[in-house]
Amino acid sequence: MPEALSKPDAAGDGQRASNTDPPCRVALLGFGTVGRAVAKILCETPQPTLQLTHIVNRNVERKKQPWVPSHVVWTDDVQSVLNSDVDVILELIGGLTPAHEIVRGALESGKSVVTANKQLIARYGPDLLQLAAGRGCQLEFGASVAGGVPVLPALRTGLCGDRLHGIAGILNGTCNYILSRIEHARIPFSEALEEAQARGYAEADASEDLDGGDAKAKLAILALAGLRARVAPESVRARTIRAIDAIDFDYAAELGCTIRQISRADLKGDCLRAEVGPCLVPLDSPFGRVQRNLNLVLTSGEYGGDMAFLGAGAGGDPTAVAVVSDLMFVAESLCGRRTTSGTQVSAPAVGSDFETPWYLRFYVRDQPGIVARLAEIMAAHRLNIDSLLQKPGFDKAALPFVITLEPCRDSALHPALEKMSGLDFSIRPCLCLPILR
Ligand SMILES: NC(=O)c1ccc[n+]([C@@H]2O[C@H](COP(=O)([O-])OP(=O)(O)OC[C@H]3O[C@@H](n4cnc5c(N)ncnc54)[C@H](OP(=O)(O)O)[C@@H]3O)[C@@H](O)[C@H]2O)c1
Repeated sequence: MPEALSKPDAAGDGQRASNTDPPCRVALLGFGTVGRAVAKILCETPQPTLQLTHIVNRNVERKKQPWVPSHVVWTDDVQSVLNSDVDVILELIGGLTPAHEIVRGALESGKSVVTANKQLIARYGPDLLQLAAGRGCQLEFGASVAGGVPVLPALRTGLCGDRLHGIAGILNGTCNYILSRIEHARIPFSEALEEAQARGYAEADASEDLDGGDAKAKLAILALAGLRARVAPESVRARTIRAIDAIDFDYAAELGCTIRQISRADLKGDCLRAEVGPCLVPLDSPFGRVQRNLNLVLTSGEYGGDMAFLGAGAGGDPTAVAVVSDLMFVAESLCGRRTTSGTQVSAPAVGSDFETPWYLRFYVRDQPGIVARLAEIMAAHRLNIDSLLQKPGFDKAALPFVITLEPCRDSALHPALEKMSGLDFSIRPCLCLPILR
């Protein structure tokens, strides 16, 4: 199935946007955090190839701004804009409804689309790219992962000459903020979450962030752009960060590590492994050094080796820069009469059976023979213990200690974990984290 993935050279057929070409007419849909910041850039730094013609929002009257030039039409009628002669639709409404219908309608009528909508691209990206290619127009979504960090354009242009086999990232600023705060302020998870909510880094219901839903969508988009693989977000396994305690950072530090929410995918032949969840990462590694709400993406390529992309993963202004960059690219492409080129994507079976060393944290009611019983179960499942860590001074009624395991597959570990979770001295489910080296 030919689908449009590689970003075409903006005017690769030798044509350039000349000074006499009329600018691309752009309609901005959604005047919220990102939409407003995009409009600011377009009004304060006019581009010769772009002309903002419409701003669309529901109940638009309350949105009007004096700094927007008077020729711009403010409206809440999406359909009239889709039926107009605008060249590019900028979808910054978010969510699936009505964004999906709007974007599909725009592409069907031959209008190019720029969007920052991760849900839309994670779920419908491959089909919409194919539609765009078929209609001779473009779909750009550079801001949908890692906000202002230009990792998607890099994957689709700068790295498309490599054969990438691995992508891993810290893609959710909320989780990274919370984990960094637990690490440095030694506060419980619940307090770090409340703090993140008070500062506007987490929503009132932060489940999408904490339990990995947000990162799964972003990982699916990275897999599409970088690994050329169609991955349904719901097929990616996610583990929550809710069980992480300050004590886990103490034990992780003894292992030279810290804990971060990592989204990772690797492709070997027809098999793609993908997972989102908290992992131990070395303190001195790129992941270990990412603090607060920054994003980091690392890629591994067969020829180019490893690359890193770090920066602001969210926020109106950084995200708007990514959106305007996409817009400029589309405008130049349209003037150069270039359209999106086709590239094959595969549809591999998605699993999560990574082979890594593991960190197992137990909370037990202390009694003789605990380690022997755990070791017996591990030996029966052919799991090798690497180390045993126990800090002194804890209440014997709720004693945390850690066992680390030598590398083994997730599928080999889980039957043993099930057996261990049923033991009478265990007072909390075992926390099980991969250790990434
Ligand atoms: N914010 C970030 O840091 C960030 C980073 C990366 C990507 N993104 C993505 O960028 C997109 C926009 O995010 P945002 O933070 O700017 O969201 P936002 O602040 O909620 O803005 C959305 C805007 O769209 C309007 N809207 C919603 N539904 C509409 C409809 N059916 N018809 C017309 N207008 C409608 C909203 O109007 P009301 O004022 O009435 O609600 C609001 O003005 C999302 O896809 C998001 O995932 C955001």
